[in-house]
Amino acid sequence: MSAVPPLQTPRRSRLRRVAGAFVTPPVFDFWAQRLHPTWSWERPLARIVGHAPAATGAVTLTLKPNRHWAGALPGQHVNLTAVIDGIHVTRSYSLDAPVGADGRLTVTVKGIDGGRMSRYLLDPARRGDVLDIGPGFGDLVLPATQTAPWLFLAGGSGITPLMALVRELAGQGMPVPLTLLYWARTRAEFCFADELRALAAAHPRFDVRFVLTGEAPAAIDEAGGRIEAAHLAALVPDLPTRHVYACGPGGFVAAAEALLNDRVARLATEAFTPVPRPALDDAGTVSVRLARSGRDLQLPRGVSLLAALEAEGLKPKSGCRMGICNTCACTKPAGATRDLRTGTAHDEPTRALKLCINSAVTDLVLDL
Ligand SMILES: Cc1cc2nc3c(=O)[nH]c(=O)nc-3n(C[C@H](O)[C@H](O)[C@H](O)COP(=O)(O)OP(=O)(O)OC[C@H]3O[C@@H](n4cnc5c(N)ncnc54)[C@H](O)[C@@H]3O)c2cc1C
Ligand code: FES
Repeated sequence: MSAVPPLQTPRRSRLRRVAGAFVTPPVFDFWAQRLHPTWSWERPLARIVGHAPAATGAVTLTLKPNRHWAGALPGQHVNLTAVIDGIHVTRSYSLDAPVGADGRLTVTVKGIDGGRMSRYLLDPARRGDVLDIGPGFGDLVLPATQTAPWLFLAGGSGITPLMALVRELAGQGMPVPLTLLYWARTRAEFCFADELRALAAAHPRFDVRFVLTGEAPAAIDEAGGRIEAAHLAALVPDLPTRHVYACGPGGFVAAAEALLNDRVARLATEAFTPVPRPALDDAGTVSVRLARSGRDLQLPRGVSLLAALEAEGLKPKSGCRMGICNTCACTKPAGATRDLRTGTAHDEPTRALKLCINSAVTDLVLDL
């Protein structure tokens, strides 16, 4: 699901046609960005115009996109690309609020130890930097009309898309009951805590619980412990009637799915890190022919083709690295691969092999 394409007025289209006869888009971008950092032929770019602490080890970035950005809905994420030490690095980040009337968007990024992109974005010196920005992706969006009570389950940085939805529902006057259960290790790691408490005070239909796994609960809206059945039943007595969105690290999402699948009115999840996967006994290496570049490689079985190709110094296009955004999809004319999420092997040719979630089983040909 993505949003509206950028508007092209007839005058702009004419100008582009005329200019296109004289310069290529990369040459246009090169010179245009000397006049203004986000001017481009058609490349969606966004400038970091705000950089504020959100919690311990997390920042909220305000981004001002150019007119080529296709937009995003509350609950969706975008791919952001930065050049870090000369290398293009792309990662996905969820909007933490609906896009503003001024076209700006905000994302909240949690620093990961040793993380390339998150550590880069956490640095206040990034204010003013320009990033490539993709269109909104993802299905954690609100239906046009609200009919059932909601339950949002957020693990750590998984709060971001759910915060966008809380803000959207609050803007609509909280049309149905909403409970947000938000897990973090310590109190200092909760983002948006003051705002969530203020929204709960303003909207009787909105209930928030801050669930701590590394500290004892102390306030009336705090609870303790990891996600488990008795806990959910105690905190949400009408659980079976709820529409549930859960977001967070892979282990958290897998736990939510195991507890709630077929036990609530509806369940949709989004994992920020790979969900723990079935053990594989794929070992050794296979021969991989890259048809377009004419290269032959030996790649290991049992690891994603994306990681294996990167380890060889190649830079296939990527985004979410989780099988969501389709950025890494390529044609596989021959060979068998395994979906690392399910463990299932596929030996038929495909035009849409997602490199980030598939590993090699046999010798392969890839259209790269
Ligand atoms: C759909 C989607 C939406 C996302 N939205 C957000 C968001 O709104 N805010 C946000 O902060 N992050 C979000 N992420 C995670 C984000 O895309 C990056 O994975 C994260 O910022 C780490 O990137 P990095 O380059 O710093 O780490 P990398 O250099 O890629 O990884 C360094 C190490 O950290 C591990 N790691 C990577 N990500 C995580 C993680 N999230 N938690 C724990 N360990 C991790 C890796 O396995 C690796 O070992 C989202 C991910 C997805 C798939
Ligand atoms: S990088 Fe997003 S699907 Fe592979």
